[in-house]
Amino acid sequence: MTRCVVVGSGAREHALAWGLAKTAEVVVTPGNAGIAAHGITCVETPAAELDADLFVIGPELPLTQGLADQLRAQGKSVLGPGRDGARLEASKAFMKQFLHDAGVPTARFGVFDRPEEALDFLVTMAPPYVIKTDGLAAGKGVLVTDDFEEACADVLDKLSGNAFGHAGTTIVIEEGLDGEECSLLVLCDGVRAVALVPAQDFKRVGDGDTGANTGGMGAFAPMASMSDTDVDEVMTRIVAPTLRELRRRGIDFRGVLYAGVMMSSRGPQLLEYNVRFGDPETEALVPLYGDSLVALLSAVAAGTLDAVPATTGQSAVTVVLSASGYPESARHGDVISGLGDDGQLASPLEGVVVFHAGTSRDAQGRFVTHGGRVLAVSAVADTLAEARERAYAACAAITFDGRVMRHDIARAASQGAT
Ligand code: AMP
Ligand code: GLY
Repeated sequence: MTRCVVVGSGAREHALAWGLAKTAEVVVTPGNAGIAAHGITCVETPAAELDADLFVIGPELPLTQGLADQLRAQGKSVLGPGRDGARLEASKAFMKQFLHDAGVPTARFGVFDRPEEALDFLVTMAPPYVIKTDGLAAGKGVLVTDDFEEACADVLDKLSGNAFGHAGTTIVIEEGLDGEECSLLVLCDGVRAVALVPAQDFKRVGDGDTGANTGGMGAFAPMASMSDTDVDEVMTRIVAPTLRELRRRGIDFRGVLYAGVMMSSRGPQLLEYNVRFGDPETEALVPLYGDSLVALLSAVAAGTLDAVPATTGQSAVTVVLSASGYPESARHGDVISGLGDDGQLASPLEGVVVFHAGTSRDAQGRFVTHGGRVLAVSAVADTLAEARERAYAACAAITFDGRVMRHDIARAASQGAT
């Protein structure tokens, strides 16, 4: 049996481990209480000291720190780019320059580390104003606003280092784009690239896309509004030139190239690249790929990707339950009710799986909140509307004090569409 190691401790890693465990032996490092309760081995041992046929690195931080390089130097088979490829996510200024060199359509932009120049550029832009921290900020470093005063204040706050420390002392200011957003997760084996079905995530904390940006409050897949032609256009205009530029720079990218795309009136425009599986998109996508994950991810790592992955044909909806105070803060220790000893629904519902993001167990063995995003509740069904109903029925059965949840995940897409 194939042995896999998954690196990380969130709901994305829970979903990957669960999907791989259908046909492989899986160890997660370090994992979390909910993954372990689900019958998947979690260990504190660092990945470099573990042995396996396939290593899947979940989060961006170890990728940007060179974990994939370290494991490959030991002769291991790894899904995840080296430090060179991970720069696409680690620095938005680097990414924007890379896109410019590659000829990838993206919003007009400027890169600044001095307030006067940044504000001079800002006055030349029309609303909405978009201000981004250069470095990693867990999805929270982007302000999109129509309010010029708020934009100026954000520029000064970020450049002073108050808002995001060193990650924020360089900023990107860019043109605001309009359109529908799509997360296209593309598996790349260094040469070939195949897209998973398009997913949409919900980044704002409040219903109707209001409030602060978060790490992601929910997702669904596939997106019926993205036709095959739309996906082909993203692959041709965005992904293909990116792969050419990666090769030109001598970067062997084996992993997930996550394209955050705005389907604007000017055609698809790249908002951002992530160099890993999206969270919470992965919690919606994994259940759609049945038993095929081990073969698919092994091929990415080995450089032998040939088939276009097939889904079960169903739809999936994921709703994230976050802790009191999220995203500004997260209260730990609130007791979660509605879960059984295995961390899944105490009263099971068809098609539902509960992925744990930030939970731990208290002295009595009860699950308690232990992070910003606490649980990612996923449901699959034959239609998106039915998957949505199942996901929300499951969420209604899980409660804790101060629970933060959006009520409109996949609502618009499931009305009238299947
Ligand atoms: P990013 O981390 O760069 O994907 O930005 C986070 C979120 O901010 C995106 O998912 C969009 O909703 C929004 N956003 C980013 N860039 C732009 C832009 N140029 N125009 C409009 N919205 C944007
Ligand atoms: N869903 C956004 C991200 O993974 O960064």
